Amino acid sequence: MKKLLLLLAAVAWLLGNDTAHEFAKSAECQACHPKIYEEYYGSMHANATPDKDPIHRAVWDKHPHKNKFEQYSCGKCHSPAADNLDAMLTKEQKALHDPKNETHQEAVSCAYCHRIESIEHGKMSNTNIISKEKLSFYGSTRSSLESPYHKIITEKNDHFANGNVCIGCHSHNLNAHGLNLCSTNVNDEMSTSNCVSCHMPKVDGSFSSIIETKTHSFHGFAGAHTNSDMLKKYVQISILRNIDHFIINVDNQTSHALLLHPMRLAVLKISVTRGGKTEELAEEQFVRVIGKEGKPAMPWVADVTLKDTMVKANEKRAVRRDFKLEKGDKVNVTLGWFLAHPESLKSLGLENEKAAKEFHIFKKESFGF
Ligand code: HEC
Ligand code: HEC
Ligand code: HEC
Ligand code: HEC
Ligand code: HEC
Repeated sequence: MKKLLLLLAAVAWLLGNDTAHEFAKSAECQACHPKIYEEYYGSMHANATPDKDPIHRAVWDKHPHKNKFEQYSCGKCHSPAADNLDAMLTKEQKALHDPKNETHQEAVSCAYCHRIESIEHGKMSNTNIISKEKLSFYGSTRSSLESPYHKIITEKNDHFANGNVCIGCHSHNLNAHGLNLCSTNVNDEMSTSNCVSCHMPKVDGSFSSIIETKTHSFHGFAGAHTNSDMLKKYVQISILRNIDHFIINVDNQTSHALLLHPMRLAVLKISVTRGGKTEELAEEQFVRVIGKEGKPAMPWVADVTLKDTMVKANEKRAVRRDFKLEKGDKVNVTLGWFLAHPESLKSLGLENEKAAKEFHIFKKESFGF
């Protein structure tokens, strides 16, 4: 009996052991997938760690898990290729993020994502189930030939092409008070588009240097930080002129809210040009503020959404300005965002961080009358 228990313990240890959690480095893919590698290298997936993403670092620096030296719980999604991920996610192990550990810097690596076999749904957040073979990758290319370097498991259930592979990390993330910090509305079945078709559109260039293809799926993961111009077409801006006012319509044709992370502040700037002079009208803010006891609070403290004016999935938001337009007037609108709400910069020590404080222009439009 004792032997059996010992054996079971050994098996459990092996299954849960981090040595099985070993991934080919992303740099190893570069030789044969140069375009994909280059795009990926500049994306937030390659840069999701505290050392490479100053915004993530700023929040992590304030986090009680860091300061009580407990665990890097963020690793589950921000550095899932870490060789000691299990320890990172376990309180007693005191395994924090380590800038010197190369596997931590791999962030959301090529091999990690391509070994996601299925998604286990969870209340607090989902979990990726990773395949056991180190060099067998899932993909979506049906006409697959063979790769000299790795095996390819092309899907039976479209798990890659339909975006299911994204929802292990992007579906929801509840804090200890049950507040959902980040929801991507993954259950929306409205459209024929999905995470992959919008965020990884087909672009010119072969996907490998060995087998020529005309296009490949964009691996720069267009989003709020980079390549947002690729997503412009999913948000339409139009204007309706009335006798004593006008209305700007922001039509979000996306299956999720315009921005998702509660740190963001989106702004619609409106001005009117008349006779060579431009007058700024009041701007419109789109924001989701989380907090506690009526005041904005850090994500681990917040237990309620205090305010939510973010443009929702498939919402057409009407913004009215009581301004009488005349013939010859031009109305200029700019939709954009701050990655970190300007009011939070100081408390997060991000005042000098360009990416966090600059206004990122998403879309500009002018309407003449
Ligand atoms: C369940 C997966 C998951 C976990 C766990 C997680 N995150 Fe994230 N995090 C994400 C995803 C997905 C995004 C991108 C969301 C977006 O851009 O809207 C993100 C984005 C962020 C951002 C915005 C970064 C930027 O550059 O704009 C910050 C800050 C952040 N996370 C902090 C943390 C911290 C700190 C932890 C740990 C205490 C953590 N996250 C744990 C999934 C997770
Ligand atoms: C020695 C060259 C070589 C290296 C190195 C290499 N690959 Fe490939 N890979 C290929 C070739 C060739 C194909 C195309 C095979 C085909 O057309 O089916 C391919 C196809 C793929 C596919 C497509 C599967 C599908 O059906 O959609 C994925 C995913 C992939 N590789 C991932 C990776 C990752 C991740 C790495 C790095 C860890 C990597 N590859 C390194 C040669 C390589
Ligand atoms: C292992 C977890 C994980 C998986 C799987 C994952 N992501 Fe992410 N994703 C993240 C994290 C973490 C961030 C935020 C990184 C940061 O800002 O520090 C992020 C950021 C993003 C962003 C924002 C980029 C920007 O410029 O702001 C987009 C878009 C995105 N992911 C799309 C996808 C898509 C599409 C898939 C599926 C093909 C996917 N992600 C799969 C963890 C993941
Ligand atoms: C119809 C196209 C479309 C679909 C489908 C879609 N997105 Fe987006 N996504 C957008 C647009 C538009 C934006 C806002 C512009 C930007 O961030 O550049 C965006 C922004 C994001 C961001 C950045 C938000 C932030 O606050 O930083 C993430 C992360 C993201 N999407 C992930 C996903 C995931 C995961 C899925 C699938 C569950 C998905 N998206 C489905 C179009 C789409
Ligand atoms: C966040 C998850 C994620 C990461 C990280 C990622 N991929 Fe992919 N990759 C995908 C998805 C999803 C597809 C399928 C796209 C489609 O069906 O349009 C794909 C497709 C591919 C293909 C098939 C060819 C094509 O253009 O569709 C290759 C090859 C590939 N990836 C290689 C890589 C390499 C190399 C890296 C790192 C440099 C990488 N991937 C990083 C999710 C990822």
